[in-house]
Amino acid sequence: MSKPYVYITRSLPEDVVNQFRDIFDVHMWDYKEKPVDRETLLQEATKADALITMLSDKVDEELLNECQQVKVIANLAVGYDNINVKKAEEKGITITNTPDVLTETTADLTFSLLMATARRIVEAAEYVKEGQWQNWAPLLLAGNDIHHKTIGIVGMGRIGEAVAKRATGFYMDILYHNRSRKERAEQELGAKYVSFEDLLEQSDYVVCLAPLTKETKGMFDQKAFEKMKSTAIFVNASRGANVDEEALYKALEKGEIKAAGLDVFAQEPISSDHPLLQLENVVALPHIGSSSEETRKNMMELCFENIQRVWNGQEAKTKVNP
Ligand code: DGY
Repeated sequence: MSKPYVYITRSLPEDVVNQFRDIFDVHMWDYKEKPVDRETLLQEATKADALITMLSDKVDEELLNECQQVKVIANLAVGYDNINVKKAEEKGITITNTPDVLTETTADLTFSLLMATARRIVEAAEYVKEGQWQNWAPLLLAGNDIHHKTIGIVGMGRIGEAVAKRATGFYMDILYHNRSRKERAEQELGAKYVSFEDLLEQSDYVVCLAPLTKETKGMFDQKAFEKMKSTAIFVNASRGANVDEEALYKALEKGEIKAAGLDVFAQEPISSDHPLLQLENVVALPHIGSSSEETRKNMMELCFENIQRVWNGQEAKTKVNP
């Protein structure tokens, strides 16, 4: 029997892929950073038994209609807003994601971004490298404290809880807002459930970790930024489309909030002339939440494991659709 044809939409490291070449006939897009072009992806979908996709690939109705024999699409991300899950379900295609293996790494990045923004780390490092440091001064690049402040986490999933856990080490008060109450976070971490409005009004750090859904899209709008403290720092490490970026820009420019740390944007990659990137009080990263060597390898292996399980007639380990 011929081996199942697996198409991967980026070039992944051979040491990961080689582990699976005995079982699968693996084909990959040639580039590590450049996304697969649409035409190639549509063609590959007609041949493939399984796909490994990236969050930058649109797995929409058009693509799913090209899938003649695809049984499973393994998305290399915990978020799967790039996939039309309903349509996939109708076609009997299993969709999988990569939760758990990236939780701690993404929480590390989220907390680093919060700290970098609060303590103006990027600005300060550039200041030294650019030779601007002439004298010590009492308020030179003074940032804001993190310890003993209030963090408000919007989206208390696995990553939210892991960020909350880190916040306990900084003696922070933890507020959260989520679709449902999280007993464990309340009992073990002392997190307090509040309304979205209360969270915005009371937090020194507002951290968005909510998945992108119909309900969360654009939830950080002008009204939301107006409610925040003028000293508040906004951090987004989930999806850019949860934020109205024009409203965020205005809030930062007018001093309605103090600063923002952003790992995600409505349009990725964000263009270097985007107004948000012109602001000194913005720390911007290229969507690297789960990007550690160890975690990305684990995510890749999990994608293959999911494909393997579906191929063997077993339930996928981390299936998205019911
Ligand atoms: C994900 O997995 O959805 C993250 O955004 C990747 O960093």
